[in-house]
Amino acid sequence: MKVLVTGGLGFIGSHTVVELQNEGFEVVIIDNLSNSSEKVLDGIVAVTGKKPLFEKMDLREKAAVQDFFARHSDLAGVIHFAASKAVNESVENPLLYYENNINTLVYILQELQKMESANFIFSSSCTVYGEADVMPITESAPVKPALSPYGNTKQIGEEIITETCKVSRINSILLRYFNPIGAHPSAHIGELPIGVPQNLVPFITQTGIGIREQLSVYGDDYPTTDGTCIRDYIHVVDLAKAHVVALQRLINKKNVDKVETFNLGTGTGSSVLEVITTFEKVSGKPLPYQIVGRREGDIITAYANTDKANNVLGWKAKSTLEDGLTSAWKWEQKIRS
Ligand code: UD1
Repeated sequence: MKVLVTGGLGFIGSHTVVELQNEGFEVVIIDNLSNSSEKVLDGIVAVTGKKPLFEKMDLREKAAVQDFFARHSDLAGVIHFAASKAVNESVENPLLYYENNINTLVYILQELQKMESANFIFSSSCTVYGEADVMPITESAPVKPALSPYGNTKQIGEEIITETCKVSRINSILLRYFNPIGAHPSAHIGELPIGVPQNLVPFITQTGIGIREQLSVYGDDYPTTDGTCIRDYIHVVDLAKAHVVALQRLINKKNVDKVETFNLGTGTGSSVLEVITTFEKVSGKPLPYQIVGRREGDIITAYANTDKANNVLGWKAKSTLEDGLTSAWKWEQKIRS
């Protein structure tokens, strides 16, 4: 069975391609290489022994999207990762985010709507919950007003999909990721942030290897156990496997609604200082850091209630924070060697 993975050379996309191939799917990747590299294909081959089909394409070109679907009318599903994801950049250039994350989604859905049936998996984010009132966060927690154009594109994306599925033969699963970290344990694929990483774990591993002088911890005066923010760090391989399970659910028509939503997290919250301590343990070296002021827009605490993913989807995260940081550190060492 053939599956389209948009953004399949990116961080979560490439790990999902590996898991799809391991399960026997034939994968076609679309990627515009804006935040990835064609070399990732070699990493995928090194892990699975199979080269996925790859088409370099920008999904903002509607005619190219139409042409692609005309040539691939036999898709068992589409997993749509391709999107921009930097919060700050989205504030500076909102239209880029609406064009990249919304126009492309519309163009793909327009083609899927023409099909006899279609299965669509969407990369959403726990960012839709904002500062949730109740921990851990369930899927029925209210969606709060978005704090950035990036967050807004995830909310609008979910709405576009829900409204479209109602009136078409498309079935969809919305996956709300908590904080993805780590790399494939083989260290053949991993995260490749461009420029200075905004996310915690790549900043930590780059500090560990000496590219960054020290980590800035954004605030230690929050109302948490040690004063730093709490997040649910989920291993990217666990996350990737959830996509395969979700796709199989749609292919086997096990979904109970035309659109289903699942949180993808571990269910455990970790503070920034806990992440630092765990990194120091797995790397065997102290991590230089300083406490600085709070980062604007940061929420205090977010971790998932995973009951629905565990019991309905039939997926559970297996890896620990330590596993995630160990693999991220191994990957960082490999790409700098
Ligand atoms: C961020 C985005 C979120 C997006 C997610 C993608 C913001 C406000 N949120 O989530 O919308 O879906 O990335 O992965 O940007 N931290 C430091 N020092 C650093 C970097 C981070 O102390 O140099 C802290 C942050 O304050 C936060 C935690 O580490 O408490 C995690 O930060 P990060 O990795 O950026 O993820 P989120 O902010 O949760």
